[in-house]
Amino acid sequence: MLGIKILGTGRYDPGKKVVNEDFTSFIDTSDEWIRTRTGMQERFVSDGEPTWYMGTQAAKKAIEAAGISPEEIGVIIDTSVSPDYYTPSMSCMIQRELHAVNAMTIDVNCACAGCVYGIDMAKRYLQTDDGIKYALVVANENLTKITDYSDRSTCVLFGDGAAALVIAKSENSLYSSHLGADGTGAKYLFARSIPPANAFMTGEGRVDDGFPEPNGHYLCQDGKAVYKFATRALPKALKTAAEKIDFCLDDLDVIIPHQANVRIIETAAKNLGISMDKFVVNLDRHANTSSASIPIAIDEAVRSGRIKRGDKVGLVGFGAGLTFGAVIFEY
Ligand code: UT7
Repeated sequence: MLGIKILGTGRYDPGKKVVNEDFTSFIDTSDEWIRTRTGMQERFVSDGEPTWYMGTQAAKKAIEAAGISPEEIGVIIDTSVSPDYYTPSMSCMIQRELHAVNAMTIDVNCACAGCVYGIDMAKRYLQTDDGIKYALVVANENLTKITDYSDRSTCVLFGDGAAALVIAKSENSLYSSHLGADGTGAKYLFARSIPPANAFMTGEGRVDDGFPEPNGHYLCQDGKAVYKFATRALPKALKTAAEKIDFCLDDLDVIIPHQANVRIIETAAKNLGISMDKFVVNLDRHANTSSASIPIAIDEAVRSGRIKRGDKVGLVGFGAGLTFGAVIFEY
């Protein structure tokens, strides 16, 4: 089986740290509520760093760890729900900063499943294009710029950050993936872009998207609906990826889930019959960083020695879209 090898990882934690207590000065909340309902304690927030900058810093570390030069990268895949521009893409900005002159550039928006989608795309490019030796997957998020700090049900949940992975193909190694989406749940988690307007618009042709009333450009979430989706999607995506290759999930050494809520992870662990000891949890320190949460956790696990060469690893993401995805590979 053709798989992947993660050659290097890197991350960027923004300059500021916000603890639960900091929210109590401007919204009706408590450290106790946030801890018990989510598991979160603190999160990094951008102190002015743009999304592309955070992604670039993470990418530089990943490239250094991989021991390659930026010119050797054939494709940069960037995932974000909080890019700095409609255009150019984050991947183009990062290519510029890295001088990765031989890389083509792709941005994907698959929300919190973004990195899993990005890894699977990278694997497919590496597999089918002999000209591409290394892929760089970058996940960078500046969620605080699309967060409504007067809405206590969302603002405590999110943090900022970035992480990157340098990936090569690996012959005869474990690999499976299962990606999917359920667009009927799009209304449960969204952030609007600039409302459509032009000089010729009369409003007569306005098409209803079925979403609740707009709340500016801020993230709007039906927490309960997403929670329900997440507790089902997480085990199902992992199980389906495993079934495709007759792999037993008990044989995974480490599982890195999207870091949205520790209760979601605990429920999934119980449903799968897998000990929580195998799940990496860092949302107590980073909160939810959307597509960056899985690669941030990978980088921490690699650098702390929690993931070792040869370990069988499962990644599983779920989020707005609604999207979901799992990848099983050997580190
Ligand atoms: O990354 C993308 C995927 N996202 C997710 O997976 C998120 C999934 N959803 C969740 O993790 C949870 O639904 C939340 C953490 C968002 C909310 O937890 P919950 O247990 O579902 O709480 P709830 O929304 O049912 O709210 C319970 C109560 C409400 O008060 P009442 O109506 O019972 O009086 C809320 O107003 O908690 C209240 N509440 C808060 N109280 C203090 C909501 N937010 C807060 C807050 N502080 N920050």
